[in-house]
This record gives sequence, structure tokens and C-alpha cells, in this order.
Amino acid sequence: MLRRPLLSFLHSVPAGQMDSAHRSESFRGSPLIELESLLNRLDAKKIFGRRAALHVDLGCGDGSFLCALAQRIPEKNFLGIERLLGRFRSAAVKVANIRNVRVLRMESSYVVRYLLPPRSVETFYLLFPDPWPKRRHWRRRFVTPDLLRAISQALVQGGTLLVATDHVSYLEKIKEIAQTNLDLAIVDPASVDLPQSKFARVFQQKGVAIHWLELRNVSPVR
Ligand SMILES: C[S@@+](CC[C@H](N)C(=O)[O-])C[C@H]1O[C@@H](n2cnc3c(N)ncnc32)[C@H](O)[C@@H]1O
Repeated sequence: MLRRPLLSFLHSVPAGQMDSAHRSESFRGSPLIELESLLNRLDAKKIFGRRAALHVDLGCGDGSFLCALAQRIPEKNFLGIERLLGRFRSAAVKVANIRNVRVLRMESSYVVRYLLPPRSVETFYLLFPDPWPKRRHWRRRFVTPDLLRAISQALVQGGTLLVATDHVSYLEKIKEIAQTNLDLAIVDPASVDLPQSKFARVFQQKGVAIHWLELRNVSPVR
């Protein structure tokens, strides 16, 4: 039972890349992550074949933002998490030839809570999380007090979570939750200069305003 997410991950790899998913000698150059267990923390040095600051895109969709940013900052490591098979497949194809990106098909909250080592992530991106606008669906929203606590524990000191949304009331709710977390400070994201994600492009074409929120880990080193 514990192996199922790994199997579904491998099955979801496009046919031309299945081979490299199983060959350990090509692991360093493969964009596919082989989990040894669902209980061990991810070993970024092993996964990327080097030590570098880690950036994580939660719900990376088709991977266009992840890949554009990874190419812009080749000295950092980028991990994309996506749970939907079709979008994960699109991302897996895009990342295939970019050395500093890996993708994992999994529930983001599981990765944040259980797989990322404490103080290991320089930046999390949460771009256009599903807003679930109907009140009776709010419990499906990704951002909860528990999740923000897990994010703050996974962030290095001074590391940030960048959120983008078109949905003002969800943004306000996230701010409200952040204000109850003493390890996170709301900072001015005025200088956001990032590639456009697929959803950002769609919203821009429709003339919909995009709102940004940046939360910084201000917890002291313990
Ligand atoms: C609105 S889309 C935004 C995609 C991308 N970030 C962008 O800006 O183009 C939200 C994405 O998050 C993914 N997602 C939502 N909740 C997730 C979760 N708990 N774990 C992993 N992926 C999730 C969805 O499948 C979807 O691809």
C-alpha cells in the first residue's frame, strides 16, 4: 500500500521516458524522483546530484512557470509538485531536458508535512491555488493553519512563501491565518519579477487583477 503513489508516479511518465525512470545510472540526469520510501525525508543532494538552494512549486500545473524560472536561475534546485495526472504529464515532458528541475506527482500537503526536511526550502510558490469560493467548500482549500505551520517549518530562516491569486477573499483569509503564525511575517511583495504561469497568462488575457502575498519565515534559529 505504501508503494502506490510511487507506482502511479512511474506509470504517469510519458512512454519515451519510462526507461530513464528505472535506470539508476541515469538518475542524476533524470527529472523523475524515485522515492525510496514514503516515510523518509527527501534527500535533495541525491535527487539533484548537488547541493543548492531549493525552490518548491506547490501545484505546479503544466510546469511552465517552474521550467521558465529554473532556466532563469540555474544555480538553484527546483521541485514541482502536482497531483493531477494530465498536468503532471505536461510538466514531466517540459522538465525532461532541464537539469535543475524535478517533478513529483503527489499531494502537496503530504510533501510539505512529511517529505521535505525541516529548514530545507528557500522559497515556496503557491500560484493560483483553487479558491473554492463556495463557503461549504472552504474546507477543501489548501491553505490552513496546519499547512502554514508545516510550510514555516520547512522554510530556511528568511525563506519565503509567495502566493498569487485572483481571489481577494481567499487572499485575505490566508493573511488572517498567517497573522496567527508567529514564525511568519507578511512582507511587501512589490518587487515580484517572475515568469508567468499558465494561469497568470489566462488571467492577464482576461484582464483579471492578480494579487500577491509574501510570507517570510522570521523564526529564530533554534
Ligand atoms: C489553478 S491551478 C494553477 C496551476 C499553476 N500553479 C499555474 O499557476 O499555472 C492549481 C493547480 O494545483 C493543483 N493542486 C491543487 N491542490 C493540490 C494539492 N493538494 N497537491 C498537489 N497539487 C494540487 C491542481 O491540480 C492544479 O494543477
